[in-house]
Amino acid sequence: MKKSRTIYLMMGLLVFASVSLIAEAVRAQGTVSISQDSALKGSKLYMEAVNNYLDKKQPKIVGGELAPIGAYPWQVSLGVSWIADPYSAHFCGGTVLSERWIITAAHCVVDTSPARIAITAGTNTLVAGATRRNVKLIIVHKSYDPIKDDNDVALMELTDPLPTGIFIKPIPLLTPTAESVLLIEDAPLAVTGWGATEFGGNKVRDLRHLNKLPFVPTLTCNDVSAYNGRITENMICAGPRLGGKDSCQGDSGGPLTVETATTPKLAGIVSWGEKCAEPDKVGVYTRVTRYVDWVNRCLNNAASCNQ
Ligand code: ARG
Repeated sequence: MKKSRTIYLMMGLLVFASVSLIAEAVRAQGTVSISQDSALKGSKLYMEAVNNYLDKKQPKIVGGELAPIGAYPWQVSLGVSWIADPYSAHFCGGTVLSERWIITAAHCVVDTSPARIAITAGTNTLVAGATRRNVKLIIVHKSYDPIKDDNDVALMELTDPLPTGIFIKPIPLLTPTAESVLLIEDAPLAVTGWGATEFGGNKVRDLRHLNKLPFVPTLTCNDVSAYNGRITENMICAGPRLGGKDSCQGDSGGPLTVETATTPKLAGIVSWGEKCAEPDKVGVYTRVTRYVDWVNRCLNNAASCNQ
């Protein structure tokens, strides 16, 4: 008795598995000949980029303007590796930390494998011919909380080094001591990206920036009229309280920077917000100073940093 039940169960499983496989094959046939595997996994933003590409839909920063060429040499685009056009492939931003390391948001690269992502660097315009690199390792912060959007930070190691120079240049992380002096109410910050220029809008081919985005203290940002307590000590807020200027979908993972007496420093990573550019609902960024030690440990020894 027991034996035949096991056999039925196994047969059932076999039928189920083959039906799913056939269904998938049919689905893949109707679209393009890419590996099914690539089409089926990735973060929400990754999948959006894939679906827009397959639907041949070309679905931006809100209230900003074109970034001057070469003004943000640390900005990179995260793209779907098997989509050749870097604009169609784009799904998130990222920042160059060194020849081999990129920092981005955890929500951009969670549920993805390194082979599915290629980064484009050294260009304001997402066109073929720009420097492209493959990814060999993704480190998502072990305390990333997708419900609260807490610890929204990840690192990616590239398979080959980037040619650093005028157009590709690492940016240092803001340190906690510098933060206490620089991140004060209304301090002007800069955010850049190829994301939507309005909520629900399309990504853009040419990099855009907002370079006088006011810093918003956490107390204000946590007000009942604003985010009502959702801002943790691992987040910072920036944006005018009246709205109109903000990062938006597709900017995620990209840099929020602060000018210092010497060079600009990375203060935040585009993380979340309620819609985009709405009054009181300013942009929320991963607070980089909280991860300086973690990043340094990872860059020194990737195997041991996430324990
Ligand atoms: N989560 C968005 C993304 O994945 C970024 C949102 C930033 N939103 C904002 N209002 N600042 O692209």
